Amino acid sequence: MRLDRFLSNQTTLSRTNAQIAIRAGQVTVNGTVLRKPDAAVSPEYDCILWNGKQISYQAHHYFLMHKPAGVISASDDPKQKTVLDLLKPEDCFPKLFPCGRLDIDTTGLLLITDDGDLAHRMLSPKHHVPKYYLATLRDPFNPQYVAWFRAGITLGEKDKEFQCLPAEIAAMHTHTALICLHEGKYHQVKRMLAAVGNHVEQLMRIRIGNLSLPVDLPVGSYFSILHNDVEKMLNFSDFEAVCALSKAEYSSYWIK
Ligand code: URA
Repeated sequence: MRLDRFLSNQTTLSRTNAQIAIRAGQVTVNGTVLRKPDAAVSPEYDCILWNGKQISYQAHHYFLMHKPAGVISASDDPKQKTVLDLLKPEDCFPKLFPCGRLDIDTTGLLLITDDGDLAHRMLSPKHHVPKYYLATLRDPFNPQYVAWFRAGITLGEKDKEFQCLPAEIAAMHTHTALICLHEGKYHQVKRMLAAVGNHVEQLMRIRIGNLSLPVDLPVGSYFSILHNDVEKMLNFSDFEAVCALSKAEYSSYWIK
C-alpha cells in the first residue's frame, strides 16, 4: 500500500494533507524518515510513526453508538444533523456510514463503519441477522400478538400488500414489548404494531445478533469496537434467552 494512502486511511488526514505531512518529514517507517508519498509500505508489518506517534493499522473502523432521537441515520444531509455529526474530529475517518437505518425518533444501537462487506452481511435479507427492539406501547400488550407476529403480519404498501417474515414479540412489562425482526422494512416495527391495533410511542434498538447496546452507554455516546466484536452481530441466540437477558438488563427502560 502507498504510504500516503496508509496515512490518510488510518488518520483523519486527507490524501493531500498526508502527502504534505510525508514531504515535510513528519513520517518515519521503521525508524527512517520517508519523504516519498508513493513509497510502498506493509501496514501489518511496518512500524509507521507520524509526528512520533505510532499509527496502528486497522483495515476498517467500527463504532458502536447509542443513537439519540433527533438525528438521522445518514452520512450527510443538507438540513438535518446526522449520526456522523456526533463523532469527534479524530474519529471522522473517510467513508464512514451508518450500517442500517433507524428512524429519526428511534434511539439505540447503531453501528458506524467503513466496512462495506460487513454492512452487506448484516443487512442482506439472505443472512437473516436478528434485530431486537424495545417498544413502549400506547395500549397494553396483548398476548395474541405472539401468534400473529409468528404467522407473519401483513402490511399495506401503496396498492399492494406485503407479508412480513415471521417475527417474535414478548411482553417485558404491561406496555413494553421486545420485538425481534429478521428484515428491515421502512418503519417496520411501528407499522407491525399499528397493524395489530396498537401504537409505538417510543422505540429503541437494543441488540443486533449477539451484539448488545451496553445499558450504561449514555444516549449520544459511542465507542470504538474491534472487528471480532462486530462479528458477534452475525451469531444469534434464541429469542427466549434474549428475552431473559433483556428483562434483567433493561428494566430501567420500563420501570421509571
Ligand atoms: N422499525 C421502525 O419502525 N423504526 C425503526 O427505526 C426501526 C425499526
